[in-house]
Amino acid sequence: MDSILVKGNGALNGVIPIAGAKNACLALMPATLLSEEPLTLTNAPRLSDIRTMTQLLQSLGVEVSALQDGKVITMSSHGTLDPRADYDIVRKMRASNLVLGPLLARLGHAVVSLPGGCAIGARPMDIHIDALTALGAEIELKDGYLHAKTQGGLKGAVHEMRFASVGATENFVMAATLAKGTSVLKNAAREPEIVDLVRCLRRMGAEIEGEGTPTITIEGVTALRGATHPVVTDRIELGTYMLVPAIAGGEVECLGGRIELVGAFCEKLDAAGISVSETERGIKVSRQNGRVKAVDVVTEPFPGFPTDLQAQMMALLCTAEGTSVLEEKIFENRFMHAPELMRMGARIEVHGGHATVTGVERLRGAPVMATDLRASVSLILAALAAEGETVVSRVYHLDRGYERVEEKLSACGAKIERIRAAG
Ligand code: EPZ
Repeated sequence: MDSILVKGNGALNGVIPIAGAKNACLALMPATLLSEEPLTLTNAPRLSDIRTMTQLLQSLGVEVSALQDGKVITMSSHGTLDPRADYDIVRKMRASNLVLGPLLARLGHAVVSLPGGCAIGARPMDIHIDALTALGAEIELKDGYLHAKTQGGLKGAVHEMRFASVGATENFVMAATLAKGTSVLKNAAREPEIVDLVRCLRRMGAEIEGEGTPTITIEGVTALRGATHPVVTDRIELGTYMLVPAIAGGEVECLGGRIELVGAFCEKLDAAGISVSETERGIKVSRQNGRVKAVDVVTEPFPGFPTDLQAQMMALLCTAEGTSVLEEKIFENRFMHAPELMRMGARIEVHGGHATVTGVERLRGAPVMATDLRASVSLILAALAAEGETVVSRVYHLDRGYERVEEKLSACGAKIERIRAAG
């Protein structure tokens, strides 16, 4: 397993290109199952999660080809499809469950492994099951697999989700595009990745209204065509790199960033004394002098503060002036970065869903371990401003969601290198 070595190196300045959104791409790729014609995605991120989704789609019978080192992905599911998504792939990545809705809509049946838990929580699928059942699917759990089928195809329905689940919204919307009649999803998730998925489905001929609001209406059609769609900018990678000058000092311009993708996050940076401005190329962030101010954070569904930026924000607040309280309301176990930050001298107390961070002048480098995707990058951020050397181990977590981290940070003056594991 590779590690990453970081040496604190003072203020960082430069330009960082932001890639296409992992969490949009992981929903867009299964949409190919809805049509016999090819679906091409451009601006796709080059990440291990995308390679995992590619493997899954190929195991179902989808032809996948990539150009430009993976930035352009063309998929075609015109052949015979195998509606079984095996545990050995699904357990590696929860987003594999996003093939359930499209397979049901296209084939009328699917067998998809439950993903199992992951580091940040149990990750149940009850909201997905309720939503697809509302469209007429019969779903039962057997041997760790969801066995789903429909008699005579999915039928449009009105359904209100108990919680604005991102994945369940995506499964419902994709399935409803080919259901008979009108579907209305209430308490729908509003994330930009949902908006991007709907824009792609519309290009494929779907009739959908209301994306980005709590109510999405879908008129079922008999078939969808192929399309070419650019993956939206990754707002989580954007927010992560906006924190580089905030934590280390200096000025960084994040190319492709737009304030509308990170509104609640920018409000917190502003309150912490960080200067954020939109340029014609992206977003410029700088902190020239003076310590960051402590701020409180509560994670919520979009447009609230994103849970996927909580760990990174905690890294910033470890050196803020004052005490900050972070409340994690989306996942039940998403503070595993805290003990690792404490190894670097951070002062953090975790009680259930609350973490209280008392800022210190400076963190000190130490050997630390990545536990999940966003925790891993929060440790890298902390290391950029820490005194001395930090070695972050198990960086396979990092490679799931961040392409070319060392390259992007080195370009801003960071002292960072990957230590390849022997063998
Ligand atoms: C998506 O996961 C993202 N993943 C996550 O990003 C993100 O943290 C999450 O949305 C919230 O924004 C992808 O898009 C691939 P949810 P998803 O369904 O769809 C509970 C990252 O770091 N829940 O909105 O799985 C669930 O356990 C990843 O890139 C149920 O109880 O999130 C969680 O506590 C991590 N039953 C909460 O809802 C269900 O049926 C939010 O889950 C579904 C979810």
